[in-house]
Amino acid sequence: MSQKTTQTLAPDAQGLARGADILRAGGLTAFPTETVYGLGADATNDTAVARIFEAKGRPRFNPLIVHVASLDVAQDIAQFGAVATLLAAHFWPGPLTLVLPLRPGAVAPLVSAGLDSVAIRMPAHPVAQGLLAALGGPVAAPSANPSGKVSPTRAEHVLEGLDGRIDAVIDGGACAVGVESTIVLADDTAPCLLRPGGVAVEDIEAVLGRPLPVGGESATPSAPGQLASHYAPDAAVRLNVTAPTRNELWLGFGDCRGAQMNLSPKGDLVEAAANLFQMFRALDLFAEGSKGIAVAPIPETGLGRAINDRLRRAAAPRE
Ligand code: TXA
Ligand code: MG
Repeated sequence: MSQKTTQTLAPDAQGLARGADILRAGGLTAFPTETVYGLGADATNDTAVARIFEAKGRPRFNPLIVHVASLDVAQDIAQFGAVATLLAAHFWPGPLTLVLPLRPGAVAPLVSAGLDSVAIRMPAHPVAQGLLAALGGPVAAPSANPSGKVSPTRAEHVLEGLDGRIDAVIDGGACAVGVESTIVLADDTAPCLLRPGGVAVEDIEAVLGRPLPVGGESATPSAPGQLASHYAPDAAVRLNVTAPTRNELWLGFGDCRGAQMNLSPKGDLVEAAANLFQMFRALDLFAEGSKGIAVAPIPETGLGRAINDRLRRAAAPRE
């Protein structure tokens, strides 16, 4: 990945405008929330979202939390049932993330890792709110740390891990909460806790008027293998294919003449990651269960590791 100069921006109107301009142009701006610093990208831009994974060095595509400025924006992205409406009314803005049915096409497919659900929260931090207002749209953001490292609660921590890998960090001082948001699967019939965090479970239970059980394995798509089962295409998938058979649709990478689709004709892994989920879905649709999908070799470097991880799951034998 390219080395860049990471700007430190002040948390004033000028810094927020600059941070939003970077997001609008498809770049990455880290920003403070009340929980931890987030590494933000325009949630509607697949290439920008792919850069998050590249900058963090994530070995696989975990679904990300979408940050919104208002309930209106959230409702454009996800379907709110009674439980979600109740919890949002009580805890937003604040450190609570709701997992809800995604409105198809509302955010880049990479944000939800191709799932039919999406995680959303409205942060309370004035700098986060200012950035979202300046952009005027949703921001996808995981914690702003390299994969496998602890979450940052100061701008200096962000730079320690990501200096030269992101465009900017807005310095808003120390985060008040310091642990990530609580994540709730806000289902009307069986709501459950997916991750403990900044809002106490007891407080959520008090509002719901019933216990909030811990979500089972099946509710946690971050667990390896789980995502694959949500996502496995109907078509049989074969990897590292340079010469597809007549019964296969070819998904290319780099110079692959005759490919039905190409993740990146110029061999750019960021572009390939951005296209992965949508092209896979499109080919699966074309295949109509009668043809297989053959995927060209993808180099096992940078984002290629995450892409290959995903592809191996898709190609794994089905139960
Ligand atoms: O406080 C926070 O939540 C911080 C700040 C920046 O907002 N963000 C954060 O993001 O902790 P991250 O990427 O480190 O954690 C996101 C979690 C992951 O564990 C992921 O599995 C879960 O959210 N998640 C995202 N989308 C999901 C979905 N559709 N279903 C279930 N879990 C989801
Ligand atoms: Mg994290």
